[in-house]
Amino acid sequence: MLGFGAVMSPGAAACGTTSSANLTCPEKGGIYPNISADVIFHRRLGFGFDAVWRGGQGLFGGPAGQPYRPILIDFNGVYQPRISKKVGADLMAGIGWQTTRFYGYTPTSGCVYFAGAPYSTALLYGDVTYGRSFESMTAPDNKPAAVAHGEACATNVFYLVNIGNAGYDAAYNAAMASVGANALCIHLNPAQEMAQPGGDRDFRGALDAIARVVAELGRPVMVKETGCGISPAVARQLVAVGVRAIDVSGGGGTSWTAVESHRASGAEKARGQELWDWGIPTAAAVAWLSAEGLPAAGVDLVASGGIRTGLDLARALALGARAGGLAQPALRAVQEGGRAGGEAYLQQVIDGLRAAVLLTGLPKASDLATAPRVITGELAVWIAQRPR
Ligand SMILES: Cc1cc2nc3c(=O)[nH]c(=O)nc-3n(C[C@H](O)[C@H](O)[C@H](O)COP(=O)(O)O)c2cc1C
Repeated sequence: MLGFGAVMSPGAAACGTTSSANLTCPEKGGIYPNISADVIFHRRLGFGFDAVWRGGQGLFGGPAGQPYRPILIDFNGVYQPRISKKVGADLMAGIGWQTTRFYGYTPTSGCVYFAGAPYSTALLYGDVTYGRSFESMTAPDNKPAAVAHGEACATNVFYLVNIGNAGYDAAYNAAMASVGANALCIHLNPAQEMAQPGGDRDFRGALDAIARVVAELGRPVMVKETGCGISPAVARQLVAVGVRAIDVSGGGGTSWTAVESHRASGAEKARGQELWDWGIPTAAAVAWLSAEGLPAAGVDLVASGGIRTGLDLARALALGARAGGLAQPALRAVQEGGRAGGEAYLQQVIDGLRAAVLLTGLPKASDLATAPRVITGELAVWIAQRPR
């Protein structure tokens, strides 16, 4: 964190007018500008540097005192506990020094002797600082966990940390708390692993691992696929161990099996091509899990995989999703048009959803869940064959 602030000095050091140091003239207090920098590197612990100086030259010892301009410099150990998403505290302790910087001796000054050497007893000061902070969370094995947090993370954003099923470590709980994450999302990707060069193909204990995370984490856990959808049978097992939300991440959009087959060669490439479209389409997965009663049981469904427009999103909400997600089109919009392109694309999705809600005559998007629906074609066939 880089900050700028003002320090109130209580004005506690003294000087005297005789060699016996009649300590009668207090050091001038007041407001001092300061600049500080903190680096937090482990569980909200770090170190900081502070430089504080008197804005204008002052008179040490009052109106007849010595012209001076003190500068205080200190190095501290810092602990930054989080009070709320936007507010934190800076607790610091360390070592520092002051250069008092006298500018010319004035013989008539009422402040002649400095009690041996200039010193300050102003050890405590209050500091109100505005700063910007940027944090990154690193997994215990030093793998970046793709978490960036700062002012960009507004308070009305539901903030998820995403990891693979083998990636959880107990240290995540504190790390997530430190960045204000709302929930953990675990992604499943067996088809991707089977096409991935050197992929992990031992899936034993996956459900137990998720159950352990749910028990230990102390905050909601969501599970998602990565392009193959989540079936009712898998959803039932996830809910039974306490998973609170499921992103079906179904077929019809980005296929990570296909992505891997581009990278792979030989048997893995062939497997990737064979499984290119493997999975349950997003709409069918949402409809199945909704018919399974998950939303009614308080399990939130997220529809991702092939969502491209606000109308797609409206259809997903009508099928029972609480929210929708999209990846590839947003990345493409940013790739082609930078940040402005990405924002324009997302605005288009939001406007499309609003238009669909308005045209359906509903007050709000969440009412789509109970709106009358007509389901035809391939989706109707999938829904009719929902496995029980
Ligand atoms: C470039 C890219 C990277 C992704 N990385 C992850 C990831 O790390 N974890 C994850 O759960 N899903 C990941 N996904 C999958 C998306 O979260 C989402 O499930 C799916 O891509 C949505 O489909 P869409 O791309 O068709 O919109 C990624 C998708 C893309 C396109």
